[in-house]
Amino acid sequence: MDDLREKYLGLIRDAADESRLEDLRVQAIGKKGEVSLAMRELGRMSPEERQEAGPRLNALKDEITSALAAKKAALGDAALEARLASEWLDVTLPPRPRGLGSVHPVSQVTEEITAIFADMGFSVAEGPQIESDWYNFDALNIPGHHPARAEMDTFYMARAEGDNRPPHVLRTHTSPVQIRHMEAHGAPCRIIAPGRVYRSDYDQTHTPMFHQVEGLAIDRDISMANLKWCLEEFAAAFFEVDKVEVRFRASHFPFTEPSAEIDFRCSWVGGQLKLGEGDDWLEAGGSGMVHPKVLAAGGIDPDVWQGFAFGLGIDRLAMLKYGIPDLRAFFDSDLRWLRHYGFAALDQPTLHRGLSA
Ligand code: DAH
Repeated sequence: MDDLREKYLGLIRDAADESRLEDLRVQAIGKKGEVSLAMRELGRMSPEERQEAGPRLNALKDEITSALAAKKAALGDAALEARLASEWLDVTLPPRPRGLGSVHPVSQVTEEITAIFADMGFSVAEGPQIESDWYNFDALNIPGHHPARAEMDTFYMARAEGDNRPPHVLRTHTSPVQIRHMEAHGAPCRIIAPGRVYRSDYDQTHTPMFHQVEGLAIDRDISMANLKWCLEEFAAAFFEVDKVEVRFRASHFPFTEPSAEIDFRCSWVGGQLKLGEGDDWLEAGGSGMVHPKVLAAGGIDPDVWQGFAFGLGIDRLAMLKYGIPDLRAFFDSDLRWLRHYGFAALDQPTLHRGLSA
C-alpha cells in the first residue's frame, strides 16, 4: 500500500497536463485501477486483516482523489497564468492613427469665401442645379436668340414627347439665384450664392461641372465704387495679403449695365503667383450694375433700387491660392490627391485665426 501511495502521488505530482491526470485516475482508482483491485482483495481477507487494511485503503483512495483534484487545480491556475501572460494588453498604448478623410479644396475655399463675405454682411443664398430656361436665361436678359446662350455650351434636360415647352437646363451659372432671391426677399439685399454649375467643356482648365460664387447687393444708392471696395476687401482677405488692387475692364454681360471684367493685380515670378504686387493682372470674374430689366424680372422696381452683381470661379480661386495645376484632378476622387490637397476637418476657416491656418 505504501508502494502504491508513493507511486501515484509521485506520478500525480509530475503530471504535465489534465489528460495525463485522467489516465492516472483510471490507473489508480478507476473500476480496474490498482487501488480498486486491492479493495476487491478485502473480501478474501480475514476479518482482522480487513479491519486493518480497509480503512487504510479508503484513506489511500481519498488521498489520491484529493491529490488529483489539487494537481488539477494547480494545472488550471498555471494555464490561466500562462494565458494572462501571453494575452496581456497595454491599454495605455496610443491608438493606431486612423484615416479621417479630408476636406476637399473646393469645400474649403467655399467656406473661406463665405467667411469673408459674411464679415461684410452678405448672407448665403441657394438655388436649384436643374433650372428653368426662364431663370437661367430670360430673366437675366438673355433672350432666345442671344449669342450668350450658344456660348454657354448648355446641358439640356429631356422633355416628355410632345411637350413643347423649353427644356430645363443644368444651370450654366449661379446668376439665376439672383432672380430667385429677389423674388423671394425683395430689396434691399446682400447675398452670395456659391454652388455647382454645368457646361459641356473639358480640358486642363474646364470640367463639365464646376463652381461659381455669385454676389448681389441691392439698395437705393449702391454703386460700382461699393463693388470695387468689396472685391478689394475680398481679394486681400482671401489671398491673405495687405492689399490687392482691383482693375475693372469694360466688358459686356446681358444682365449688367455697365459691365466689367474683374482683374486682380499680381506678379508671376519663377512660376510663383503673388497677389497685390507686380505688373500682371489676374482675371477673376465678371461684374457690373444689375440691369434694370433683371431687377424688374426679380420683381424689384428699378426706379427705386439699384445694385451690383458679380460672379467668380471658385475652383479657379482654389487652384490659384493653393497652387493646384489641373482642374480635372479636382473631380477625379483620387485618394492620394485628396490626402495631398485636402484640409483637416477641424481647419474651419475664420477671419480672425487666418483662413488656412
Ligand atoms: N454669370 C456669368 C458667367 O457665368 C458671370 C457673371 C458676370 C456674373 C457678371 C455676374 C456678373 O453676376 O455681374 O459667365
